[in-house]
Amino acid sequence: MIFSLARARLIFSVFALVVFSAVASAAAQTTNAVDPNAQAVKERDLLQQHYLIRGLGTIPDTSSYVIEQPFGRLWRVVHEVWLHWIGGIVIFGVIALLLAFYFIRGPLRIEGGRSGKMIPRFNGLERALHWIIAVSFAILTLTGLNITFGRELLLPLIGPEAFSRWSIMAKYAHDYSSVPFVLGIVSLLILWAKENLPTGVDIRWFKEGGGMVGNRHPPAWKFNGGQKVLFWVSVLGTIGLAASGLFLLFPFYWTNIMGMQIAQVVHSLIAIAFVGTIIAHIYIGALGMEGGWDAMASGDVDLNWAKQHHSLWAEEELKRGSDAVSPP
Ligand code: HEM
Repeated sequence: MIFSLARARLIFSVFALVVFSAVASAAAQTTNAVDPNAQAVKERDLLQQHYLIRGLGTIPDTSSYVIEQPFGRLWRVVHEVWLHWIGGIVIFGVIALLLAFYFIRGPLRIEGGRSGKMIPRFNGLERALHWIIAVSFAILTLTGLNITFGRELLLPLIGPEAFSRWSIMAKYAHDYSSVPFVLGIVSLLILWAKENLPTGVDIRWFKEGGGMVGNRHPPAWKFNGGQKVLFWVSVLGTIGLAASGLFLLFPFYWTNIMGMQIAQVVHSLIAIAFVGTIIAHIYIGALGMEGGWDAMASGDVDLNWAKQHHSLWAEEELKRGSDAVSPP
């Protein structure tokens, strides 16, 4: 009796084990059949198909609904690393080249010295516009460089409170000085566009090194080839800065996050190229060419300077009558 009870228990246990294994294996098979990841949308696939992932929100600012934007990572590297390098290399590179040029070649002298006779070059309006442009450009450059380099260079020197106060002021100065700058360039465009149209004389001027390389003085009208390049670079640069700057001034008004990032990079690259060009211009206007400064200071230039650098224009001015030449 005891034996048969023990046997019955054994048979029952084996049976229970078999049933349990069968159920467990069936359950396991059922679990394997439904792979929750097989059909689920993976973050990577989503990001490959859509340039950003947007969530739902209730506040009116719909741009805040953006949860992920892979392009933003590229923009961050460009903004935090590349632009710093490009800006540093261009600005310090131009300054180094000009210093080398100054020490090797020295300032361009007026051959035969000053004649003592002056010839009018720019009137009061032209000079006023030029200096409005120069002052506003200087403010735009310093405050713009603060946006890119301020946190690295200035913050450790003056501390967080002073840097924060200066940066808020600099931001407004940047925004407002863009107005006289753009209006000044538009006015100069109206006044000087005709005299800056390219001619065959400019090609010869470039071929002969523009008087800067070698000892030749190629003929030029009121503006030589190099000055025409500066003029059109200033006009096109201003158009590019103003257009991209408007996107930054009115964030998300006409575009989304990616448009804002593109506008920021375009604005910075144009500004860096512009600053490099203007540093070279300031060198020639203020240091690199004897007699050049007078043109934008008093408005009159020495006759010998005019004959050396703008021979065709000087001849034309002399032909116009003796009152074109006045004592200094
Ligand atoms: C401190 C800054 C500056 C100095 C010392 C300076 C100096 C001069 C001088 C001396 C001239 C007359 C050259 C001549 O008679 O042929 C001139 C002309 C001119 N400047 Fe400036 N300038 C400065 C800033 C700027 C800026 C910021 C711009 C534009 C963004 C600019 C655009 C021009 C243009 C288009 C001309 C006429 C073409 C030329 O002469 O190259 N200048 N500048």
